[in-house]
Amino acid sequence: MAIERTLSMIKPDAVAAGNAGNILQHFEDNGLRVVACKRTQLTVKQAQAFYAEHSERPFYGELVDFMTEGPIFAQVLEGENAILHHRSVMGATNPAKADEGTIRKLYAESMGRNACHGSDSAESASREISFFFSERDLIG
Ligand code: RTP
Ligand code: MG
Repeated sequence: MAIERTLSMIKPDAVAAGNAGNILQHFEDNGLRVVACKRTQLTVKQAQAFYAEHSERPFYGELVDFMTEGPIFAQVLEGENAILHHRSVMGATNPAKADEGTIRKLYAESMGRNACHGSDSAESASREISFFFSERDLIG
C-alpha cells in the first residue's frame, strides 16, 4: 500500500459544537498523521469554488450557506491509503447510514450538516490540498 496525502475539513457544525479536537484525535488514533492544519472561514466564493462539482445539484445553495456559516478546520492527513482510509474513518455522507464509531456517526447532525469532508480521489486530493496549502506548509 502507498503512503498518500488527503485533504480533510472539519465543517462548521462540528467546529461550533466544540468537536474539532476530538475529531483530530480520531484521525491520529486511526493512523492518519496531521501534516498541515489551519482554522479559517470560507468566503461564499471560496465555498462555491471548492464544491463547484456540485453546482448543478439542488443542495448546492444550502451547502454553500452551511460551509460559510462559521469557522472550519482544514488539514492534510498522511498515511497508508489515506484517501480511502480517511473516507472510511469519516463514514457515510448520511450519518443515519454511517457505521458505528465513524466521525459522522459520532458527530454529524444530518446529511447536509455532516461534520467533515474528505477528498474522494487522488485528483481531488491534489486539487483540494493546493486550495488551502502551499508546498512549504506540508511538514512531513
Ligand atoms: P464531502 O464532499 O463533503 O466529503 O461529502 P461526500 O463526498 O460524502 O458527499 P458529496 O456527495 O460530495 O456531497 C457534498 C456535501 O454536500 C452535502 N449534501 N447535502 N441535502 C442533501 O441531499 C445533500 N447531499 C449532499 C453534504 O454536506 C455533503 O457532504
Ligand atoms: Mg464529496
